[in-house]
Amino acid sequence: MCGIVGYLGHREAYPIIVEGLKRLEYRGYDSAGIALFDGTDLKVSKTKGKVVDLENLSEKEITKHGNVGIGHTRWATHGVPNNINSHPHLSNSGNLVIIHNGIIENYDSLKQELISRGYTFKSDTDTEVLVNLIEDVQNQEDVKLGKAVQVALNQVIGAYAITVFDKNKPEEIVVARLGSPLAIGIGVDEFFIASDASPFIEYTKDAIYLEDEEMAIIRKNKGIKIRKIKDDSLVAPYIQKLQLNLEEIEKAGYDHFMLKEIYEQPKAITDTYRGRLLRDQAIIKMSGVEDNIKKFLNANRVIIVACGTSWHAGLVAEYIFEDLARIPVEVEYASEFRYRNPVINEDDILIAISQSGETADTLAAIKLAKSKGAFVFGICNVVGSSIARETHAGAYTHAGPEIGVASTKAFTTQITVLTLMALRLARAKGTITSSDYHHHLLELEMIPNKVKKALEYDNHIKTIADIYKDATNCLYLGRGYNFPVALEGALKLKEISYIHAEGYPAAEMKHGPIALIDENMPVIVIATKKGHYEKVVSNIQEIKSRKGKIIGIVTQGDEQVRELADHVIEVPETLESLSPLLTTIPLQLLSYHIAVMLGKNVDQPRNLAKSVTVE
Ligand code: M6R
Repeated sequence: MCGIVGYLGHREAYPIIVEGLKRLEYRGYDSAGIALFDGTDLKVSKTKGKVVDLENLSEKEITKHGNVGIGHTRWATHGVPNNINSHPHLSNSGNLVIIHNGIIENYDSLKQELISRGYTFKSDTDTEVLVNLIEDVQNQEDVKLGKAVQVALNQVIGAYAITVFDKNKPEEIVVARLGSPLAIGIGVDEFFIASDASPFIEYTKDAIYLEDEEMAIIRKNKGIKIRKIKDDSLVAPYIQKLQLNLEEIEKAGYDHFMLKEIYEQPKAITDTYRGRLLRDQAIIKMSGVEDNIKKFLNANRVIIVACGTSWHAGLVAEYIFEDLARIPVEVEYASEFRYRNPVINEDDILIAISQSGETADTLAAIKLAKSKGAFVFGICNVVGSSIARETHAGAYTHAGPEIGVASTKAFTTQITVLTLMALRLARAKGTITSSDYHHHLLELEMIPNKVKKALEYDNHIKTIADIYKDATNCLYLGRGYNFPVALEGALKLKEISYIHAEGYPAAEMKHGPIALIDENMPVIVIATKKGHYEKVVSNIQEIKSRKGKIIGIVTQGDEQVRELADHVIEVPETLESLSPLLTTIPLQLLSYHIAVMLGKNVDQPRNLAKSVTVE
């Protein structure tokens, strides 16, 4: 949550920070703020609302000149989104200014302590406590800013990425991280600070990603010193070459990132299996699996942990791992798993799935499993993310940046990776016949083209969206491999259109949700030919008898459901195990069009943020 941007160098900081904040708005967009040192004094401008509101305010409020500055886009944790709670926050003296991503859990006791020493607070935030704690250390111990930050952070419990500077020493910025990401871009005599590399990608490809419990002191003409927060030991900076391109984080002519990302799926899936699916040699090559093949083959069970859409991908994997590789799988919400004292053994494998690689609950679940001796495998999209670094081995999805808050290509590429893994393990275990294995490889290779075909129904889906955009409730039904797709379809509709939607296994409908069905209830039923087709057709009959409006997601050429349903959306035929990669496409488009028609902010739905780095 929250996006952080900072600049220290020779350019005007304002445009770099504001443009950077716009790129990080996916991380939170309740409020935005900026602090600039204009050569003589500190100028702070902050407001409830989006970065564009900050820009309008800054026009009136500040000079916008200066080569040092920090900016923030917020997803509120402590204190409602309002002007006062917006970052940056100043210390009582007005000398120190801070922006923060994360949560200081013991902020209240620290605040009481500071109040008893005469400090006053304007906001309800934990961040204002931290900046005053740093100032208090400076006052008490007469130390430089870097040392004061270090001493203060050693008193803090929680998670943070912070950027702080002293207006009396504006040639130095101090940053630190624990549990929230922070990248430092290194240019020629200039430094960029950001929650991810997107704000500085056009200025430099050289970046340092701070590790947890590290802080950096960045000085204008002296470079960077990285230290461990706990023991003050020096860390040698590791400079990475960024692979990211500017085009990847732009809308490329699409109205929304979500639509762009839906349409990117054929390429994203191809990028995911490129170099891994070698059909002519009949092999699947995944180094993270290969290097640990014995562990996988001897595993007692696989536990999958994730949140949101990634959890839905995990549910699809449960079907494919058990079906093809005959490995028992349990799929858990990371947030539940981490707190319920789960039984984990050394011969368990934990697979953590996360697009961002920063989700706090998933990260905590990984740490718990590691502490019990389990082998942990990560599936992430963001290269170098916390989860990617915390796991023993893993596989990247290579989907490219996903900026729309609603996950789309992350879901299909996660399923692609999991499918490759299941096939590789099935082959090694001998639980799949040679012809079945080859058939899977062939079909998987054809999926990107079939996704393209599914996308061709976009206009038809738009017409259906127009009919149902005013619905207040929606039911999504699917069976087997497509039950998780029903959950995912419902989540997509809820999060971007704010229409209440439920996903259910089709057969469960009779055990409760059927009571909801009347002539006003749209029911989206995934009824592809392979799998439990006849059973789902019976479920459709039951809905029809109760006058529910039926939108069937069917295999191309289907006649039976077409006769029963009010509308059908076709997807190309494929294997049942691969069908989620196709059936999810119309559901993404349906949600997208409904949300656009309702005038909702598709890429930045209310109350949400792209990566949930707090629990
Ligand atoms: O980055 P992660 O995959 O760990 O994120 C997990 C969820 O927060 C995420 O999938 C969320 O549910 C999306 N908004 C769904 O579209």
